[in-house]
Order: sequence, then C-alpha cells, then structure tokens
Amino acid sequence: MKIKPFEIELYFAKYEFNCKHLLCASDCESISIDELLQLADMPQKDLLETHLNYTESQGDPILREKIADMTADVSAEDVVFLSSPEEGIFIAMHALLDKGDHVIVVSPVYESLLNLAEHITHNISLWPFRLKDGVWWLDEEELYRLATPQTRLLIINFPHNPTGYLPDEAMFKRLLHWAANKGITIFCDEMYRGLELGERKTLPSAVELNPDVIVLSGLSKTYGLPGLRSGWLIVKNPVLRDEVLNWKMYTSICATRPGEALSLAALACRETLAQRNRDLIQQNIAGAKPFFERWQNIFEWIPTQAGSVALIGIKQFSAQVFCETLAQAGILLLPSTYMNYSDTHIRFGFGRKSFLENLKALDAHLTKHYPEKCT
Ligand SMILES: Cc1ncc(COP(=O)(O)O)c(C=O)c1O
Repeated sequence: MKIKPFEIELYFAKYEFNCKHLLCASDCESISIDELLQLADMPQKDLLETHLNYTESQGDPILREKIADMTADVSAEDVVFLSSPEEGIFIAMHALLDKGDHVIVVSPVYESLLNLAEHITHNISLWPFRLKDGVWWLDEEELYRLATPQTRLLIINFPHNPTGYLPDEAMFKRLLHWAANKGITIFCDEMYRGLELGERKTLPSAVELNPDVIVLSGLSKTYGLPGLRSGWLIVKNPVLRDEVLNWKMYTSICATRPGEALSLAALACRETLAQRNRDLIQQNIAGAKPFFERWQNIFEWIPTQAGSVALIGIKQFSAQVFCETLAQAGILLLPSTYMNYSDTHIRFGFGRKSFLENLKALDAHLTKHYPEKCT
C-alpha cells in the first residue's frame, strides 16, 4: 500500500549533503567517536573488542537500565531500545493503531508522526499551533473539542519541532490528566527534552505523570549524535510492549552492537553533551539577533522556548519558493510546507557550530538580491 511522500526527509536527502550553508538542522553539533570515548572515559579497547553478534531485540539490559535511570518510576523492562528514533515512530504507530481509530496530532509536526498515523487510520484531526502576541501557543479548548468517542491516540512533541514551544508544567499536567480521564493514549515525542532555553526548566517526562503514555526519546537531537541512530521507547503496558516488539521484528529485529556500546558511552557523559548544545543554541540565537533586526522586512522573529529550532515568519514571499531558490544558491532553510503547515514560515536550526558563519552567507545573498528590504 502506497504511503504519502515523507517530504521533509526527501527535501533533506536532496539538499543536505550538497548545500554548503546548512541553517535549518534540527540536530545539534555532533562529535567524533574518539571524543565521545574520551568524554565517557571508555577505553578504545572496549569498543574494538565488541563482538558483532546479534543483540537482544528489546536492547541490552544494562543499556536499558541506564536509560530507565533517567526517568522516575521507569524500569529496564519498560524500555525498548531502537535502531533509530524513527523506527520507534513506525513500530509504535503500527502497534497502537487500527483503521478507523481517531487520532489527534499537533500541527505543524515532524511528518512521520502524522503521516504514519494517517496511513493506518485514515482518521486524523490536527491540533494546530496558533500565534498569539507573537509567540506560538496551543489552545487546550480546541483540543477538547476535537476529541470523539473514537479518539484512540493524541500525538504530541514537547519541546516541539519546529516551533520551539514548551508548555508550562500546569498545562502539561492538565493535558495528561484530561487524556487519562478520557481513556486516550498519548504518544509523547521527547526527542528535544533537555534543550530548554533561558529560564525554562525541563518538564517531567510525560510517563512520570501518566504511566500510560508512550514516550519516544533518543540521542540524535539533545545529545548531538544522530549518526548513532540511537533511540528508545518507554512502554509500561506489557501487552502493548509485546506488540511493539513484534513490529520491531519486521523492521530491524535488534539494534547494532557498536550502536549499543556507543550509546552506553553517550549516556555516561550525557549531561556534558546536553550542556554544550544548550550553550551553543543560546549563543547562536543571541548572535542571530542583529540579522533578524536587519532583515525584519523579510523575517518575523518568533522566540523559541526550547529545542534546537525556531519557526520564523516570512513576509511577502512563499516560504517554499524562497527556500527552493536559496537551496539552489547553496543555503538550506526548511519551509513550513514540509511540516504540514501553510506556506508562511521557515525553520531555522541553531544547534550547529557553523550556524553564524552560514548566516553570513544568507545575509550576503539577501544584500545582493533584496538590498531595498534591509533596514
Ligand atoms: C520530533 C522528531 N521526532 C523524531 C525524529 C526522528 O529522529 P531520527 O531522525 O534521529 O530518527 C525527529 C527528527 O528530526 C524529530 O524532529
């Protein structure tokens, strides 16, 4: 059965590795294996002596224990280690949903969270982000109106890609409480958790507030290790967990041995990695301020509260045409159309060391082509 194109990943496949100036990455700055081993104090020998045997389908028990230790009231048994965070979305949606189930999904959203649920159920409602007083916002009343007796699942992602929205703790608790009362399961994508900016504090994991929530997390974003393809689901319900594991047998069967070994190393130094990335994002956002002031006739800066990305308004241009034109000039930005949103916004990603250098290339391009718009 055909599935919709995964537009965002097809766009990155086309441009990410041949555009010189990447400005919209959602991951953070990566490090080498060598640096990771040093930070984790893990002798190279341990990695080199790792045997390339099959691994346990649910994941190495020691690794799962370390993952469980990150969250209150979660045990190694609740964790399903994955061959990529994306695999977690695929197998969880298949384990959770059937045709006709009603699903509510925040919008815009990382596309597979929406497209897979839609592909399986054909019955989706979008819970849209709104702009209120120049900041992104979710209307709880709107969510309550979307729910029907058939609503099986609510898909959320906090901190949110691409808006950088993070609910306050009271709202987050109300949401989880509401879903529990209604018998609606929540799939909470926490890939960017730990990247809270400024005064914002890390929220409890959703599964700490409601044990029926399925949580997705991993090492790609907050810890800047997307090349490890390391992720995990937390599924406390044993019946559902078995379903998830059954689906995993049809995708990767089990994770790689080097991936598990390096994930253990990454967890040993995870706070260092997250702190580096938080610092880098904040430096890049501060460094980009003069740019957005200079180009306020083109861009509308919308502050981000958490995560590595922000969704910025674009004035007078189609976001998609603007980004495609820039990509031809070697500068990569992501239009909101590839995240199931109107042609009005652009995603910037602040997690890379090269961000401010690349922003200079965008500045030069705009100065050349739109000098009249510069303030
Ligand atoms: C919200 C969200 N969830 C899941 C993923 C998938 O992560 P990965 O590409 O590491 O599999 C992404 C990647 O961009 C994402 O932004």
